[in-house]
Amino acid sequence: MKRVYNFNAGPAALPKEVLKRAQQQLLDYENTGMSLMELSHRSKEYDKVHTKATTLLKELLQIPDNYEILFMQGGASLQFSAIPMNFLAKGKQGNYSLTGSWSEKALKEAQKLGETHIASSTKETAYAGIPSHLELSDNPAYLHITSNNTIFGTQWRDFPSLSPDVPLIADMSSDILSRPLHIEDFSIIYAGAQKNLGPSGVTVVIIKKEVLAECPENIPTMLNYQTFAKNKSLYNTPPTFSIYMLSLVLEWVAEQGGVAAIEEINKKKAGLLYNTIDQSDGFYIGHAENDARSNMNVTFNLSTKELTTAFLAQAKEEGFVGLGGHRMVGGCRASIYNAVPLESCEALAEFMDVFRSNNR
Ligand SMILES: Cc1ncc(COP(=O)(O)O)c(C=O)c1O
Repeated sequence: MKRVYNFNAGPAALPKEVLKRAQQQLLDYENTGMSLMELSHRSKEYDKVHTKATTLLKELLQIPDNYEILFMQGGASLQFSAIPMNFLAKGKQGNYSLTGSWSEKALKEAQKLGETHIASSTKETAYAGIPSHLELSDNPAYLHITSNNTIFGTQWRDFPSLSPDVPLIADMSSDILSRPLHIEDFSIIYAGAQKNLGPSGVTVVIIKKEVLAECPENIPTMLNYQTFAKNKSLYNTPPTFSIYMLSLVLEWVAEQGGVAAIEEINKKKAGLLYNTIDQSDGFYIGHAENDARSNMNVTFNLSTKELTTAFLAQAKEEGFVGLGGHRMVGGCRASIYNAVPLESCEALAEFMDVFRSNNR
């Protein structure tokens, strides 16, 4: 069996060890005589998995006790609606920092539900940067940011520091668990699992207990964060297999030495690719401004469309998968989430050098 170099943007590479573990347990989960997918979500075996995922996430990200960890569905996209439904009160404005298509989509949902304000935007520079300053509205309900911009390949290095009465909400779908965080700086963090946490199907929400009190009662039950907080995310049937896979991925992260150790490897991986771009005499052109470069999604172009097409075709032949840029922007993108091994990045850097030599 041959596994490819997987640079998919999401769903994305999973650690091989995790897949093997899941394979071993697939037909008979811990002597139950059935797969985990066939177990009741109310069973003691599943409860252990659910608790393990919560406990490991709390440990790995050092989440304080005054936060709840919720497992929701509907992807990060449903959070775009849930946030304004729960926290955009009348007379207040949902503030958004626009750094790419995902933050635009988050804003669009809020606009349907209440007053909004664009606190900063880097749209004018084709989302190549991260805003250097913010202008909040008069009565902000919250500030929403996208910590890593999967499509354009930019990432917030330092997060905005706001006055304590303005909640900071972050969509961390494409960089959660890739670096240590100071959780207390955020009121809400959410992330679809399919990049750094596991397969798609579960959305992790880390929410300050204090803000939960603001969730109104007159919104749909399944969009109310209180429903999940009060019922340990078991009000209805959770995506049990996705949460099980999440627990295995979290175990793997702990085995790698935790989030700080993972960050070091991530920096090394990204450094390899950015160096290749920077030392290519303009053959490869990085999209993101240097100080905004993402350690998760490396975006670049070649000088002509024809060269880009040839590069992607040859890369595919040599076993590099998922290097085409997002359908909205084209070009190339290497998504190098936690589970992409250093060796895949080394192989890609080498391929890029050889392709350059042959096509100069
Ligand atoms: C930063 C970011 N936010 C939101 C989404 C949407 O996630 P989902 O497909 O889980 O709704 C994505 C998907 O790639 C993303 O990268």
